[in-house]
Amino acid sequence: MLGGKKILLGITGGIAAYKTTFLVRVLIKAGAEVRVIMTRSAGDFVSPLTLATLSKHKVLIDFIDREDRSVDWNNHVELGLWADFLLIAPATANTLSKMANGTCDNLLLATYLSAKCPVYFAPAMDLDMYRHPSTKATFETLQGFGNIMIPATKGELASGLHGEGRMAEPEEIIAFMVNHIRQGLPLTGKKVLITAGPTHEAIDPVRFIGNHATGRMGFELARAGADLGAEIVLITGPTHLKIDHPLIERISVVSAEDMYKAAIMHFKQTDIVIAAAAVADYRPKLASDQKIKKSGETMQLELVPNTDILLTLGQQKEKQFLVGFALETENELENAKAKIKKKNLDAIVLNSLQDEGAGFGVETNKITFIDKNFTQKPFELKTKAEVALDIWTEILSRLHA
Ligand code: CTP
Repeated sequence: MLGGKKILLGITGGIAAYKTTFLVRVLIKAGAEVRVIMTRSAGDFVSPLTLATLSKHKVLIDFIDREDRSVDWNNHVELGLWADFLLIAPATANTLSKMANGTCDNLLLATYLSAKCPVYFAPAMDLDMYRHPSTKATFETLQGFGNIMIPATKGELASGLHGEGRMAEPEEIIAFMVNHIRQGLPLTGKKVLITAGPTHEAIDPVRFIGNHATGRMGFELARAGADLGAEIVLITGPTHLKIDHPLIERISVVSAEDMYKAAIMHFKQTDIVIAAAAVADYRPKLASDQKIKKSGETMQLELVPNTDILLTLGQQKEKQFLVGFALETENELENAKAKIKKKNLDAIVLNSLQDEGAGFGVETNKITFIDKNFTQKPFELKTKAEVALDIWTEILSRLHA
């Protein structure tokens, strides 16, 4: 969830600031890019040099870096626009109160006021400060503005007292953010099955019948779906592509029959299926155990049909939303519509090989999305990552219709 995200970490002056060195490390480990803004008093608790080294960015404190005699100034509006998330941790009672009142007397507060992104704050203070009615009122005001509070936990406090007010641990802060981000995503709670790539149908131990599919379209659909919060089962034929996402379970198969078995196993608990695989329609009737030796001028292979995975899922469909792919060379629209009916689909993604830049082995694709009412939506030539988002947008608009 945090992979590739830009996180602006605002550190204010409390003893829990020492934990931000770990916080920066775990955020970066989770794939985020981190920049740090500190208040002056935060520097009494944690070294800007340590944070600059860990975040690989200069730590910003003032509007102007006077020691540098720099003419550059730290533009709070740009910082606010750069960030996907602003996380203020630890957030002291003083800074929180200023945030609630719109006070703007340092770079962090100016950035907070300019930020358009979600703002998380993790309070840290002593037990009685945390409980004080004015602090409670501040929390309510800030949450009323749409800021998200990561509650402090109970435990031993720096004062020696025991109680509520400890800043959440770095791992807890990240878990909270990931969970919160997921709750707001449109596919959270949905289970999605995607088939991708080619299938290889064995002739003998060294030869197979295959096709030029790379799996890229299916992988981009999996990535985009997971980024939208779905839990994805990605059943893929042989491909060099890699994917690493906590919400994607990859199942690698070789043949159409393997893909069929894996798909059937997961189908019942699935909400949405996207069949992007280029499944071989036929396989050799007998795959030889031994490498077949040359013999004679010609050679014949007897082929038998593979199970049509999508057709079978269409026949067993209960609540599932089924999306197929059609790669056509002629009578494209007619053929695609016929496949919607034949396979009992909710929609089909049509690729025409007559369109340059569409189909197998290229980075781009040009599609027409057709739903079961035969409403058609043609798209421009785009990268497969962009096409994946377009397909999800079309699916989402029909899921909630
Ligand atoms: N499909 C499948 N199992 C198969 C064959 C196809 O799940 N054994 C799926 C593909 O993943 C794709 C759609 O069905 O979503 C493509 O259907 P279809 O066009 O019938 O496959 P083709 O083999 O290309 O059909 P035809 O030769 O009739 O054009």
